[in-house]
Amino acid sequence: MKIEGRSSAGADVYGVDLRTIDEGGLASLKAAFADYGLLIFHEQALTPEDHIALAGRFGEININRFFEAHPAHPEIAMVRKERDQLQNIGGGWHTDHSYDVDPALGSILVARELPPQGGDTLFLNTSDAFDRLSPGFQTMLRGLRAVHSAKHIFGVQAATAAEVDGDRLGNAAAAEGLADVVHPVVVRHPLSGRPTLYVNPAFTLHFEGWTAQESEPLLRQLYAHMAAAPGVCRVRWAPGMVAFWDNRSTWHYAVNDYHGERREMHRITLEGCALEAA
Ligand code: SIN
Repeated sequence: MKIEGRSSAGADVYGVDLRTIDEGGLASLKAAFADYGLLIFHEQALTPEDHIALAGRFGEININRFFEAHPAHPEIAMVRKERDQLQNIGGGWHTDHSYDVDPALGSILVARELPPQGGDTLFLNTSDAFDRLSPGFQTMLRGLRAVHSAKHIFGVQAATAAEVDGDRLGNAAAAEGLADVVHPVVVRHPLSGRPTLYVNPAFTLHFEGWTAQESEPLLRQLYAHMAAAPGVCRVRWAPGMVAFWDNRSTWHYAVNDYHGERREMHRITLEGCALEAA
């Protein structure tokens, strides 16, 4: 097995068949995952059953409450854009599940059907983003916590908008019932131990104790800083390719540049843990 870092936001893994990886190989992948936050596997041939078995070797599977499930495998969330749809899933910088009390560890995405061109996914490293701030700014951020929610993305209002676009999402009632959650703005990454910026434009509402209006300028500044990462990693998919990313140390962005074409990905998300302040 060969692991080649592209930047601190991702590494390509060659010479491995994810269906038959042994315990030693698994340990090497876990170590690389902690270092890079994104592992990209080429020329794989996972069936949905293999996908589920692989995920189970990295952690406990989280059954997605909002995405359509694979018809035969509830563990697999369908990340799909049909030819007549305009919006895609994840078409902006975000990290998955920050609206959960114990945010998901990460996701394993398998490319099933791809547009002839486009449909790449971008990743950046949020631990690096923290390191690039001045010590004074870092200290100020360490004193803050932020409120996260899923309602505005998956709730009734969003579902109504999505219906216009072909009923992309389901289970709006589940999102409405979720309580908002609070996480430190700078968390200690559970695997690497590095301080990591943990806010994102999709699910973060405001800083705890601040109004949304008061929070907006600082959040906007942080997002601009994070999105200007020098080492953004672009994944150009081929059928069968697999990406495994860490939701605590990366942001990702599914580029929506393939209107009129179909793209289908299968995603399994792994349960995480409570995040502590760094
Ligand atoms: C996601 O945000 O999980 C979707 C990523 C992708 O479709 O590339």
